[in-house]
Order: sequence, then structure tokens, then C-alpha cells
Amino acid sequence: MALKITVIGTGYLGATHAAAMAELGFEVLGLDVVPEKIEMLQRGEVPMYEPGLEELLRRHVAGIEGSSGRLRFTTSYEEAGAFGDVHFICVNTPQKHGEYACDMSYVESAFDALAPHLTRPALVVGKSTVPVGSAARLAERLAAAAPAGVAVELAWNPEFLREGFAVQDTLHPDRIVVGVAGERGEELLREVYATPLAEGSPFIVMDYPTSELVKTSANSFLATKISFINAMAEVCEAANGDVVKLAEAIGHDERIGKKFLRAGIGFGGGCLPKDLRAFMARAGELGADQALTFLREIDSINMRRRGHMVELTREALGGGGFLGKRVAVLGATFKPDSDDVRDSPALNVAGQIHLQGGQVTVYDPKGMENARRVFPTLGYAETALEAVRGADVVLHLTEWREFRELDPAVLGDVVAERRILDGRNALDPALWRKAGWTYRALGRPSA
Ligand code: UDX
Repeated sequence: MALKITVIGTGYLGATHAAAMAELGFEVLGLDVVPEKIEMLQRGEVPMYEPGLEELLRRHVAGIEGSSGRLRFTTSYEEAGAFGDVHFICVNTPQKHGEYACDMSYVESAFDALAPHLTRPALVVGKSTVPVGSAARLAERLAAAAPAGVAVELAWNPEFLREGFAVQDTLHPDRIVVGVAGERGEELLREVYATPLAEGSPFIVMDYPTSELVKTSANSFLATKISFINAMAEVCEAANGDVVKLAEAIGHDERIGKKFLRAGIGFGGGCLPKDLRAFMARAGELGADQALTFLREIDSINMRRRGHMVELTREALGGGGFLGKRVAVLGATFKPDSDDVRDSPALNVAGQIHLQGGQVTVYDPKGMENARRVFPTLGYAETALEAVRGADVVLHLTEWREFRELDPAVLGDVVAERRILDGRNALDPALWRKAGWTYRALGRPSA
């Protein structure tokens, strides 16, 4: 009999995971405590923009014409408990208000709500990013509360999906990391991931704490790479060097590698910033805070980028205040191919300039609705061309393909001043300069 799978929490991670599990051939039941979310998913609609996810979902959601019917949704933990052999916990762990530590309350309520309904042998698999030590604690809690007792096991299986590539990363993971306390957990997860394993995805088995640390250390490493190149950008600016050339040149060293060396206004999103901070907070609790002191610097280099972008904009406008100046902002999301504006550097910069009196008009291909919700007082335009109309300066802050394909000559006809600041080092300077623009980018010589 094929395993039956539940996915608890149908946000970014959960919705993608549920659809991917159905694609792999399993019967899947997705659960969320927000009924509106469940209703949307039942109609085959995805609550966020993620390339390929809606198609995948519609291929499997029961009741949609032509679907496999393998994917259903519910709000009932009782139904989930009765249905599943393997339960994936995919709820989020946001940063606590006013603290660095992460908020475990959604994870804890998911475990507490599910456990009383586990009346037969089952594997519970944590996918949420949690502070090291959580899995061991949750395993005890589960054993005590589940009627099936020790027949219920816990495994930790961190998720590394990138927004914008969530479907691909889930169906074809570059590694599967599994923290277990017994053999059954490993066996069942090998069954769940049989397809990617057959494709050659490495399967790495370890204890709970190591598996929890893999996720936070991977994100810390990525953040460190980005802040490293952004620190080099600061030095390049001081020395009149070119950080883009520098990154290209050091990237040829295989030990360094080219990826994640794009200097700009830095990282944001729902993961990297809060995971760094939660990691530092947890290390402090464990008495290992010194080991992670450097992450504080990684965080501040990153946050400094946003302020620096604001200052460059001020400089481009002649060095005075922003009052009465028209600033066009291209990009609101924290990265392209996503509608996510959580801790978005782009929106942060737009907001700072607006709060200092600038007349800011934002355009983003997918993030407008979310941006408006977070920052309703900014100006918004329906197209890039409308956003730049009459602008004294144009800021390129999220590297959507659409922006790389803009024609500088066409934009040049409608702006007040042909001035562009590239906060992502993603535009072609020669192209813009040829069309009569003053092009400036972070960490690059100004002419
Ligand atoms: C990240 C991790 O990559 C993923 O493995 C983890 O599961 C969740 O967190 P994601 O938040 O989707 O994924 O974004 P990512 O692609 O890592 O980019 C993070 C931020 O760094 C973005 O704001 C991006 O613009 C920025 N970035 C990335 C740079 O500024 N420079 C780079 O070279 C790369």
C-alpha cells in the first residue's frame, strides 16, 4: 500500500510540498487552520506567486477536471490523524516581536493539535526551520501525547527551497537531509523520496541536532557570501574599484564559486534575515554566542546597504533633501519571480525615501498588491514606463527580467532627468549610458 501523507500548514513551503507529494504519486491531505486558505487551494488557486505551482496543484487537486484527485485539503486535525502514515509539519517560524529568537508557537500548536489524533503507527516529519534542540524536545512531547505512544516517531527533514524555484527545488532537491532517532524514520523517508533518490539526490542521515543546524548554517553561509561581496563593494567604492569585475574574477576559483556574489542592496525575504537572528539567539542560549558573533556583522553589513542606497539617491539628486523630488522605484519584492515583500530591501529603500519627503512611485511585476498592503502611502504605477514618468531619478531595486529588457531610449523620453541607480548590478551600464543616461551602481566606478 502506498503511503498516505499529510502536510500541516499550507503556506509557501506546505502548499508546494503537498502538491509535490501528489506529483510523486502519493495520496495527500493538506491541512491549514485558516479556512480561506484551504478554500483557495481546493479551487486550485495558490495564495502567492510562484512559477509552476498553480499548474502542479491543479494537476492533482480533487474535484478539478482532469486532475489525479490525489490531493485534498482540510481544516480538521482529526481527519489528518486518521488519514496519514507520514505527517509533514510545514508551519512557519517567524521572528519574535522585539526579539531575535524565532517564534515556535505555530510549530508547538501543530504538534499539540495533531498528537491526540495519532492512534496508529505514524511518522511525524518536521520541515519548519527551528532552533537546534527543538526536535528532541518535540519528540518527547509527541510520545507523551500520542495515543499510539512509541509507535509514533519523529524525524527532522529541513527544507531548502528557494522562492521562485520552489517547485523545482521540491521535486528535484539537491540534497535530502534527514535527522532521525530510529531506523523506521529513515526507511519511511526513503520511501517518500524514492523518486528523487532514484534521480541521484544525495540522502544524508544524521541526528536531530545536526539536521536542525544544517538548515541554519546553510542560510548563514549564503548570507555571509552576500555580505562579503557587499563589504567588498564598500571598499571598491572607497578605492574606485569595480565589485562586479572583482566578483567575476574571484568566482573563477572553484573554492569560492560564482554564485551568491552579486553585490547590491543586500538580502531580505522571509528566511535569511530571521534565520540569522534566530541562530544567534539560540547560540547565546547554548553558551556558544562567541562562535556566531560574526553573524551580527553580516547582518549589519546587509542592513547598511539599504541606508547607503538612500544616500546615493540623495547624492544623485544633488545632495540636498528629497522634498519635492520624484523618485521612481523599479521593484518591490525581495527578489525576482516572487510576490514576496517580507523584509524586502527594495521596499525598505522606497519607504525611507518616501518618509524623508520624496515623491516615490513604485512598480513591480508581481509584488504590487503585497507592497500596497505593507506600504499603502507610497505611490504605485501600473507599468515601469508610468512609474518613471517625470522622475528625477530611477532606482532599479529588484532584478526582474522585465527591467533588463527595458529600452533606455523609451524611458529616457518620459523622465525628467536621465539618471539611474542600479541597486542590483543587473543592468547593462553601456546600454544606458549610450542612451544618454547617467548610470551608477553600488560598488562600481561612477563613470
Ligand atoms: C533562501 C535560501 O536560499 C533557501 O535555501 C532557504 O530555504 C530559504 O532562504 P530565498 O529566501 O528564496 O531562499 O532567497 P535567496 O535566493 O536565497 O535570496 C535571498 C536574498 O539574497 C534575496 O533578497 C536576493 O536578492 C539576495 N541576493 C542573493 C543577493 O543580494 N545577492 C546574491 O548574490 C544572491
